[in-house]
Amino acid sequence: MSVRRLVIGVAGGSGSGKSTLVERLVNSPVRDSISVLPHDHYYHSQHQMPEDLRASGNWDHPEAIDNHLFAAHLQELKNGVDIERPAYCFKTHSRLPERVKILSRPIILVEGILLLAIPIIRELIDWRVYVDAPSDERILRRILRDTTERGRSLQSVIDQYRGSARPMHEAWIEPSRNSAHLIVPNEHEASFAVSCRIIENALENMLKR
Ligand SMILES: Nc1ncnc2c1ncn2[C@@H]1O[C@H](COP(=O)(O)OP(=O)(O)O)[C@@H](O)[C@H]1O
Ligand SMILES: [Mg+2]
Repeated sequence: MSVRRLVIGVAGGSGSGKSTLVERLVNSPVRDSISVLPHDHYYHSQHQMPEDLRASGNWDHPEAIDNHLFAAHLQELKNGVDIERPAYCFKTHSRLPERVKILSRPIILVEGILLLAIPIIRELIDWRVYVDAPSDERILRRILRDTTERGRSLQSVIDQYRGSARPMHEAWIEPSRNSAHLIVPNEHEASFAVSCRIIENALENMLKR
């Protein structure tokens, strides 16, 4: 018997609100039909990173991530097969020994800044969503999030933004917006909330059929 799976890819710049969108769907009435696969747990361990990326601390480049493993796991989930994803430690930049089981459910949500910029992943995504917010708003949110929730200094957030986040956004992420099926505006809460509700309703209706 063939299985029916819908893969939704949530992309967009850092601080745009991708994780917020995923969290809302995971807390919506369709929660039991959703599995989440985050792209950023598939970073190469530091010693496997291309040397120039490692030296520059560039975590926002497509080659920093093990995209072949991610695409293979996503294909398995689409085929109805559960997987065990790697787990990544963001402090030491290395892969942890444990694995995390991800069930193949009807809706597979994948999240990551670069999803639409990587062809082998993009082609596995049924609904390509790009969360869009102006860059001034994104950096302000990132400063607040990283200094309050991630224990980072203001200076380190600014350095990372200038050094890699901004140039990688311009080179890879912003151009990938063109391949999205749906743009979710998140300049302010009102527009974002409406888009979230529209997606939730579409998923509820799809699951009833
Ligand atoms: N619509 C919104 N209203 C209020 N705060 C938001 C909204 N969207 C995102 N944020 C906040 O902005 C920060 C960045 O959002 P996040 O979802 O982590 O972005 P991303 O995953 O795209 O990097 C978080 O602290 C989040 O709570
Ligand atoms: Mg996020």
